[in-house]
Amino acid sequence: MTQRFSGKVVALTAAASGIGLAALERFAAEGAMICASDISLEALKTAVAPLALPEDRLLLRECDVTDIGQVQSFIDDGVRRFGRLDVLVNNAGTGALAYVTELDQEAWHKVIAVTLDSVFYACRAAMPHLARTQGAVVNTASISGLFGDNGLFAYNAAKGGVVNLTRALAVDHAPENVRVNAVCPGLTATPRTAWMMEDTEIRAEYDRRLPMGRPGTPDEMAAAIAFLASSDASYITGVNLAVDGGLTAATNQPAFGRLRKQ
Ligand SMILES: NC(=O)c1ccc[n+]([C@@H]2O[C@H](COP(=O)([O-])OP(=O)(O)OC[C@H]3O[C@@H](n4cnc5c(N)ncnc54)[C@H](O)[C@@H]3O)[C@@H](O)[C@H]2O)c1
Repeated sequence: MTQRFSGKVVALTAAASGIGLAALERFAAEGAMICASDISLEALKTAVAPLALPEDRLLLRECDVTDIGQVQSFIDDGVRRFGRLDVLVNNAGTGALAYVTELDQEAWHKVIAVTLDSVFYACRAAMPHLARTQGAVVNTASISGLFGDNGLFAYNAAKGGVVNLTRALAVDHAPENVRVNAVCPGLTATPRTAWMMEDTEIRAEYDRRLPMGRPGTPDEMAAAIAFLASSDASYITGVNLAVDGGLTAATNQPAFGRLRKQ
């Protein structure tokens, strides 16, 4: 494993599971000091325990990303403990399966709060520290922020917001040499999507549409996040990188090649 983050401090939200946990593991393996949070501190402690990370390189905090005060304290605690901040990974996000007439105001606000407000809160708290280190932000957006899905409009709106917030902050903070990028995962095998993998109808739809024929892994998302956070991406900012096995490269027309052979 390369050591691209040796001596660097990386803060991550929603790090107890799935993509966030894989990113935590990747940054730690590459030498970073980790400042990680989740809405459930217990879940975070349990998830991180098997990694046996040295205590002097690890800070775990409870943080509900919809609470601006908790987000500010999380970032402040990390900087107080390690003296600097080099990378911020905004990983929290949630959706709601519904059509527009079916979703109440509270559910709409929750999707926007967890997915989009959270990125604003953390960037607001972290940007002065990142400006000092010429650091980087990586947001976990989604291919659902690039296009519309059927029955997922609130998530599409929230992740679309993250996609364009990424571009806008990249433009604003490029003069300070702070880079701001996002990964846009396609279907990724995490606890959140287990029900989709188990539903044979949904799985068959994905198998038909996914050019690479399989979901992504959390480690593959973590590798893209670490790349965008690293000096390997030193001239990349404002990019929303699809990590989706080719799903958004396709027009979704019938599979002519396959049908011709039948
Ligand atoms: N899994 C996919 O297929 C996929 C695809 C595209 C984008 N994403 C995005 O990737 C990110 C991570 O998804 P995942 O599949 O790894 O999820 P996951 O369900 O495995 O983990 C989500 C984590 O977020 C934490 N969390 C929930 N609400 C929170 C809050 N208010 N504050 C802080 N933490 C909170 C949970 O406790 C959990 O640890 C999300 O932003 C999601 O929208 C996932």
